[in-house]
Amino acid sequence: MARRGGAGAAVVHDERARAGGLGRRRATAAGRRFPVRGQGGHRWRRRPTGLRSCFSEGVEVTPAHTDSSDRPSKVSWDPQLYLRFPEHRIRPALELLDRVSFDTPPAVVYDLGCGPGTLTRVLTERFPGAEVHGVDSSPEMLRTAAEAAPTAHLHQVEISSWRPRQRPDLVFANSLFHLVPDHGDLLRRMVRDLTPRGVLAAQMPVFHRTPWFRLMTQTLEDGGRGGTPLGAPGLRRTLYRRHTVEAMGYYDLLAGPNTEVDIWSTEYLHVLDGPDPVWAWAEAAGLRPVIDGLTAAEFAEFRTTYLERLRAAYPPLPDGRTLFPFQRLFLVVHSA
Ligand SMILES: C[S@@+](CC[C@H](N)C(=O)[O-])C[C@H]1O[C@@H](n2cnc3c(N)ncnc32)[C@H](O)[C@@H]1O
Repeated sequence: MARRGGAGAAVVHDERARAGGLGRRRATAAGRRFPVRGQGGHRWRRRPTGLRSCFSEGVEVTPAHTDSSDRPSKVSWDPQLYLRFPEHRIRPALELLDRVSFDTPPAVVYDLGCGPGTLTRVLTERFPGAEVHGVDSSPEMLRTAAEAAPTAHLHQVEISSWRPRQRPDLVFANSLFHLVPDHGDLLRRMVRDLTPRGVLAAQMPVFHRTPWFRLMTQTLEDGGRGGTPLGAPGLRRTLYRRHTVEAMGYYDLLAGPNTEVDIWSTEYLHVLDGPDPVWAWAEAAGLRPVIDGLTAAEFAEFRTTYLERLRAAYPPLPDGRTLFPFQRLFLVVHSA
């Protein structure tokens, strides 16, 4: 289905019906990954072919009662909130893009989880000869993307069941896969679907051990009246679930004779301006399930306690600025 949008008038295709995607498929190689779930949350493990295990970290934030019914519910996004701190949010994406190289300019580029289209626009400018597609499940984000990147083709898509209409030269996914459960198979499929010498480039935030995340889950556990939990147990279980694995897990998943895999992580020390900037940062992304999942009264209680805790964990400097460390994992796969 294709429709012309209103403001911005970019083309928005609904490709949900195209879950089959590209025709060519390859059989899953023996010894490849299969998703498992259990006390440690979702991980990828090799079938037992004697390969080393890469999952040393463990995921202690995941309670034992996590089960497959704890799928994240649909999250609402607010593009205007997400567009705050623009220079901080765009820097990792530009550093990721700097590691992408081509012998010949790419013809087909996909920006997965394109959000408000900031990076979709960057991609149209970086690769002026390419057909650039932005893909996202959020209609709110896509409306903003239509204005930010008017020459891009936009698609409203649930990424886990989607395949590209055309074989991509570049699949770019900034800050998406940490939101997508069981994305190991999806990543492998995307690498297989690349053109020869195509590139997959992804960046994922790493936050499950950070104060802002731990305080968020702690406040859901005890931020109600008299130290009681806030919201339904399913909301807390959803937040505890970690969808990413360690860097070596991604290497093990994607390395092979036909790929060159480059993985690194960077911890940024963001210097943020304004009052309660860590709240403002989280409100645009990490807090979205909480905002959606609590009643107005519950959210008011949550906000009071969480803000107090955030202020203690991230005190402002004498000049009023706040230091906010934030780690990100980068993954670039060049196919041979
Ligand atoms: C954190 S934002 C990143 C936006 C953009 N890539 C950027 O870095 O500016 C994540 C985006 O991924 C989209 N998203 C999350 N889960 C998705 C899914 N399963 N399928 C498609 N899009 C998804 C959200 O709607 C949101 O726009």
